[in-house]
Amino acid sequence: MPEAGRKRPSRLDRERALRRRRAAALLVLAAIVGVVLALTLAFGSGGGKGGAPRTGTPVTLDVGKGPKKHAQQAREKLDELSQRAVTHFAEIGLPVYCGATKKKMVALTFDDGPGPYTAGSILHVLRKRHARATFFLVGRRIQNWPSIPKMETEVGAVGDHTWNHAELTGLDENAMKSEVEDAQTAVAQATQRPVTLFRPPYGARDGAVDREVASLGMVTVMWSLDSLDWQGGNWKELVARVLQAVRPGSIVLMHDIHPNTISAVWKLVPALHHLGYRLVTVPELLALDPPTDRQLQRGIDGCPGNVTSATAG
Ligand code: NI
Repeated sequence: MPEAGRKRPSRLDRERALRRRRAAALLVLAAIVGVVLALTLAFGSGGGKGGAPRTGTPVTLDVGKGPKKHAQQAREKLDELSQRAVTHFAEIGLPVYCGATKKKMVALTFDDGPGPYTAGSILHVLRKRHARATFFLVGRRIQNWPSIPKMETEVGAVGDHTWNHAELTGLDENAMKSEVEDAQTAVAQATQRPVTLFRPPYGARDGAVDREVASLGMVTVMWSLDSLDWQGGNWKELVARVLQAVRPGSIVLMHDIHPNTISAVWKLVPALHHLGYRLVTVPELLALDPPTDRQLQRGIDGCPGNVTSATAG
């Protein structure tokens, strides 16, 4: 009824009551709209076109967008599998040299950083090409490039390469332990993640080193293909050497502190993709194409067609 139709002062109370009822009705309506909206946000985004099963768990808005959501779920699942694989191999306590060689995957590894070329070049090409890699950091170098380790976790895995790039087998036990532990702490602080991968400088390890690394919950990662970038050849030779020797499951040793390596990676990543290789981190390789017990026991000889060097790293 229009307000204009109620002019008699004796109806004042009734008009006030009417206004109160209208206000109450509006409140109820607003509450119903609110509940419907909340239910739509909580359950509606889980349905999708294919009617995916609803778990009843509220889904946040930013991941409820088709392919992006699936990509994020796949990434989280692979991260979980990778962590489990690393824990498994750390418990076995034998160094890893390559994958099972059954899948066309390669793990590029970059040692001795972080350095001046890491963020601008290596991380850039990996991001641009949707490739992933593993970085083994020298603890004392992190203070010069403190923000890089965290950036590296966005395109790959990050491990311990000792505090001072020490040849561990030449040190007494306390010094050896400090080298490994101090770097593990520094890398963990810089990445804000647990550090579960270790690579000994020069590949130098013995029983005491292996026990120390295992006691810290890390797996020792060696390599099956030495790019020999540390010898200083030009980048074209480096690319040719890796492409000629690469096999499914190869773990490739490189160093992101040499200009020739930086130039090579720009060619190497697309060339490996062109050959059909997927570029993964070491933990991903251990999850997706894990080496067998027999391979682990044979060490480098468990990696067919390996091209390696005993003195690099
Ligand atoms: Ni090294």
